[in-house]
Amino acid sequence: AGANGKAGKTRNIVEKLEESGKNCIIFYGSQTGTAEDYASRLAKEGKSRFGLETMVADLEEFDYDNLDAIPNDKVVMFVLATYGEGEPTDNAVDFYEFVTGEDVSFNEGNDPPLNNLNFVAFGLGNNTYEHYNSMVRNVTKALEKHGAHRIGEAGEGDDGAGTMEEDFLAWKDPMWKALQEKMGLDEREAVYEPIFGIVERETLTKDSPEVYVGEPNKMHLDGTPKGPFNAHNPYIAPIAKSYELFSVKDRNCLHMEVDISGSNLTYQTGDHIAVWPTNPGEEVDHFLTTFGLADKRHQVISVKALEPTAKVPFPTPTTFDAIVRYHMEICAPVSRQFIATLAAFAPDEESKAEMTKLGGDKDYFHQKINVHHLNIARILKSVSKGQPWTNVPFSALIEGVTKLQPRYYSISSSSLEQPKMISITAVVERQTIPGRDDPFHGVATNYLLALKEKQNGEPNPTPFGLSYEITGPRNRYDGVHVPVHVRHSNFKLPSDPTKPIIMIGPGTGVAPFRGFVRERVNQVKNGETVGKTILFFGCRKRTEDFLYDKEWQEAKEVLGDNFELVLAFSRDGPKKIYVQQRLQERAEDINALLEKKAYFYVCGDAANMAREVNLVLGKILSEQRGIPETKAEEIVKNMRAANQYQEDVWS
Ligand code: FAD
Ligand code: 2AM
Repeated sequence: AGANGKAGKTRNIVEKLEESGKNCIIFYGSQTGTAEDYASRLAKEGKSRFGLETMVADLEEFDYDNLDAIPNDKVVMFVLATYGEGEPTDNAVDFYEFVTGEDVSFNEGNDPPLNNLNFVAFGLGNNTYEHYNSMVRNVTKALEKHGAHRIGEAGEGDDGAGTMEEDFLAWKDPMWKALQEKMGLDEREAVYEPIFGIVERETLTKDSPEVYVGEPNKMHLDGTPKGPFNAHNPYIAPIAKSYELFSVKDRNCLHMEVDISGSNLTYQTGDHIAVWPTNPGEEVDHFLTTFGLADKRHQVISVKALEPTAKVPFPTPTTFDAIVRYHMEICAPVSRQFIATLAAFAPDEESKAEMTKLGGDKDYFHQKINVHHLNIARILKSVSKGQPWTNVPFSALIEGVTKLQPRYYSISSSSLEQPKMISITAVVERQTIPGRDDPFHGVATNYLLALKEKQNGEPNPTPFGLSYEITGPRNRYDGVHVPVHVRHSNFKLPSDPTKPIIMIGPGTGVAPFRGFVRERVNQVKNGETVGKTILFFGCRKRTEDFLYDKEWQEAKEVLGDNFELVLAFSRDGPKKIYVQQRLQERAEDINALLEKKAYFYVCGDAANMAREVNLVLGKILSEQRGIPETKAEEIVKNMRAANQYQEDVWS
């Protein structure tokens, strides 16, 4: 504990606070970047409004046994996302296990141990999951148990209800008030102070070897990327093949095979693959034009943190174009807080007033921005009627626009069948938006679509597509590649292949089940015996979006009566039929299989489908076993706890 890290960086929080002169440290436990983003926003606000000396910190980078040595004139904030089935995010696992541990011990020996610790907590969760916000709840409970003092309420944001941002905004004002009282802080007129300094490098061009034009780190820049490949270091994987799965013209679903044989990456059936996307050229242009940067997009700049504890979120020297294209989430929804911040840099008074109104009025913001799926450049352009926003310091954009995040996909291949080839099944996100003449495009899936078009020599972009710089930075990667890493999951087949399995996977929720079924097919080919394998699949129409139709027939040839595919077509008949209805129709078989300890799996839509399936299963057990519904729900809960019921869901 307290030992110095490799790069001479301390893991000792107290030392860190002292050496950097900070009195407020904001830890984040983040999986997709939102918690990290909220932590930065708290840091900025704490500094500009209350003069707090704030720093943001990754939970992974510190030790916790001296939490009790933090003096009580300082405050520690925790912004904690709950992941999946009530789990900590990857970077918060050690912290969580430490503070909630049974026999945790701290260095100082105070009684109670954390009597000096003042803390603030906000959680990010999703109420469609059973363990809603369990991270922030359990951490708060543990800290208080050890005598720490919570300031303000422990906030809870709900992604399931779609109110995360508003929950955060509503929580933080009373929290700041409570903190002001506790620490005797005066509020001051917020002034913008840049966290990053930008220096134009006149002697370098985008072709200079030391300039990053999208490479994620030095190894990639030098052309010698090396493992371990992970969330900080993607593998630039060749795409072996890619094809369309739908037979309807206006929607796309991609099957893509990614070759990991040149890396030391491994995966197991049921794991996730993360795709590192690139922003579409159209939106990059739009963004650069909005901020008056289009003409100097290839200007080489160095970005330096002006604060010792701030980190530049991308490698430099680099160019404006590369930062925007490869590192910023420029297409995503924008926070009201960021809009309010940008008001100060508006090109005219009218725009400033409009930005202030948007920033302050939740309903107005919703009606003007959210419903049209506008991103930052589109909002600003519409507010200023096309005038560029040249007064916005680039530092404010680095601070305010979230880091471009990898997107996860449930691996749809079997590691037994193809250990070095990972397949992805992804539906391309494209929506017609009322009041908008162009459709909304999802970033990563349209990037994958462009890669598929490039690989197959199809015209790019297609009528629906966008143009991406898909050859990769500096055209270093010949052929078609995609940056990826693998995330191991707990969504796994039973270790005993003779156990029956029931899989519910409508739409792209079928992805991991393609892997499961192929795994069992290969087990049989290897002479093993496998148990009953039932897949419930649902889509709109048999002739349009029935995924892997032929492959199921091939599986049937090998698995025989042990494999059953139960289909629910929602738009083929006069009435919608969903997978849960089919499940209900098969109540007797389902119950019998569960009595034989069948594993039950659900994958796909978290918001509705997964919850409804859960309810239907409870009903089935209650009816079939003649027990009250509450008792049946209890059984379902226990199945989950015992991993007999597993979910791989997303919203
Ligand atoms: P994004 O650009 O990220 O947009 C996604 C959504 O965000 C939009 O539909 C919209 O609702 C909202 N949004 C974005 N920008 C705005 C804006 N400006 N205004 C308002 N709303 C906005 N998907 C699959 O197809 N197959 C899988 O197997 C699969 N497995 C997954 C497994 C896990 C564990 C997880 C977490 C997700 C999985 N997903 C899967 C979903 C996938 O990760 C992506 O979320 C999905 O492909 C969309 O990514 P995108 O970049 O194309 O869209
Ligand atoms: P729909 O779009 O016609 O309503 C894959 O997306 C399939 O899942 C589609 O057939 C879709 O039907 C269906 N689906 C939509 N909502 C669902 C829900 N709540 N439960 C189960 N399936 C659902």
